[in-house]
Amino acid sequence: MDKTLRDADVLRVADVEKTFTLHNQGGRVLPVIQGLTFNLAPGQCLALRGPSGAGKSSVLRMIYGNYRTPKGHIQVRHGQGGDGNGAAASWVDVARATPQEILMLRRDTIGYVSQFLRVLPRVATLDLVKDPLLRLGRGDGAAEERAVSLLSRLNIPDRLWSLSPVTFSGGEQQRVNLARGFAHAYPLFLLDEPTAALDAANRRVVVELIQEAKAAGSAVVGIFHDTEVRDAVSDRGLDIEDYQWSGAAA
Ligand SMILES: Nc1ncnc2c1ncn2[C@@H]1O[C@H](COP(=O)(O)OP(=O)(O)OP(=O)(O)O)[C@@H](O)[C@H]1O
Ligand SMILES: [Mg+2]
Repeated sequence: MDKTLRDADVLRVADVEKTFTLHNQGGRVLPVIQGLTFNLAPGQCLALRGPSGAGKSSVLRMIYGNYRTPKGHIQVRHGQGGDGNGAAASWVDVARATPQEILMLRRDTIGYVSQFLRVLPRVATLDLVKDPLLRLGRGDGAAEERAVSLLSRLNIPDRLWSLSPVTFSGGEQQRVNLARGFAHAYPLFLLDEPTAALDAANRRVVVELIQEAKAAGSAVVGIFHDTEVRDAVSDRGLDIEDYQWSGAAA
């Protein structure tokens, strides 16, 4: 076994750099971050901080493999216990992973709750929440039980469960997104402002879900504009501005 796997980390981000090339605007290059480095162990929650536009969401998208990582490494520990499939652990470097490896990470290891729900208009809410569990090979009954439990906890009325969430309110859509995101106990959660559109009672539910996931051994990288939520769930913070592009080392 790779000797680095003796260490307990779930995620290792090393010297990551991000620029955007705006191909439809004369190829202008927009520098965002450089030198981003941090490790994350099971049960830990790291809060990404920084002003609007600093690059917080971009970091989550790079870890999830939505955005390409042009320089540096994003090592995710995949397999062994955490994903329930009993596969031996290995490190997958998202910066160099194949599309198949990215899909495997998203199925088994990384849960991502984006700020906005993007769904197909014809899929019912209940099916949307069950979907990640069915992909993991769980039985329909167990998947439905988990989906019902999460939708209930997140106060989505059962009359809405058979409807597509496309016409739901912003807060309802965010709660469906959270139910789907938390359906499986992923070893690593990426949460992008998960409580932005929620009232105080639902914010408390989300805090509980995050605390339960951490207690069960999940690691979390999150962006929390609500300082009360951030203080309740995070163990440490990272200021993205400390890694802002200086132009010195390209
Ligand atoms: N796909 C993209 N193409 C070009 N530029 C992008 C893209 N995504 C993000 N950016 C740019 O990268 C910078 C960081 O954006 P990002 O969304 O990561 O910021 P953020 O810290 O999450 O901000 P906020 O708090 O407003 O959500 C911004 O200047 C943004 O314009
Ligand atoms: Mg953002």
